[in-house]
Amino acid sequence: MKVQWYPGHMTKAKRMIEENLKLIDVVVEIIDARVPISSRNPDVNKLTSNKDRVVVLNKVDLADEHITAEWADYFKSEGYTVVLANAKSGKGVKDIIKAVDIACEAKLARMKRRGIKKPLRAMVIGIPNVGKSTVINKLIGRSSAKTGNKPGVTKGKQWLKIKNKIELLDTPGVLWPKFEDERIGINLAMIGSIKDEIVQGRALGLKIIEFLKTNSEVLTNLSSVDSEDMYEIFLSIGREKNFLAKGDEIDEERTAKFLMEQFRNGKFGRFSLEKVAEISSDC
Ligand code: G4P
Repeated sequence: MKVQWYPGHMTKAKRMIEENLKLIDVVVEIIDARVPISSRNPDVNKLTSNKDRVVVLNKVDLADEHITAEWADYFKSEGYTVVLANAKSGKGVKDIIKAVDIACEAKLARMKRRGIKKPLRAMVIGIPNVGKSTVINKLIGRSSAKTGNKPGVTKGKQWLKIKNKIELLDTPGVLWPKFEDERIGINLAMIGSIKDEIVQGRALGLKIIEFLKTNSEVLTNLSSVDSEDMYEIFLSIGREKNFLAKGDEIDEERTAKFLMEQFRNGKFGRFSLEKVAEISSDC
């Protein structure tokens, strides 16, 4: 399965993030709890090396709870302040405010010693679709207001005030995923973070079946065929769902779309595609 990426976009995005980093104290990095490694950009460590950082494992409602707890421990052991969030419902999002204080403890102590009283400045970063906008909207809530431009701030930048404690840059830093190996591309395609045209629908449908076969009971409800041949199961799902094209052939596109939507929306259950034990040994 071939997955491509866009180095041109990455260079531009990186430059924009670097410019914004000069203005902030702390980075709030959002990652998808189902694929905490694939949904990170490995350059983020280099980019943000002199900033405090909060790591938000978002979409915990879609991920396996125990595996997410292991990831939280893993990122804590890497020295980050970790937040578990379901930005869609809002659960855990407010914890980011506390986490920013914890991550910036040393900086806040320095400011206190020097008698400096000002809100910390933060920027949300992450690859597309991890939930950056949802997190920002939930963080602001209705009572917060835009603070507008300030001296020393690049023209046009808007800061959102959160409880008079944090000023959040209103536009998140969009990083591009880095497909260093094929698995990353496939993982991102499986959660819907890269366009479906990039990875062929049927191939993805087969991957989802392969995953379900070893991880869940749901296949038995979808297909009466049990086979080692994923394509055979794929066709049987199409047949049993009555996804038929001309000449009574199985509509493969519709079958693949169905599988992808159900999988991504958690209809097949909560799944984590990456485990700490597997990844930390080879990254
Ligand atoms: P981005 O800015 O990082 O690109 O992501 P964005 O906030 O646009 O979120 C991408 C999708 O992920 C949205 O769904 C959003 O609702 C969903 N989402 C964000 N956080 C969570 C979460 O914690 N759990 C779940 N289950 N979903 C989350 P969408 O399909 O694009 O829109 P809609 O479903 O909200 O209509």
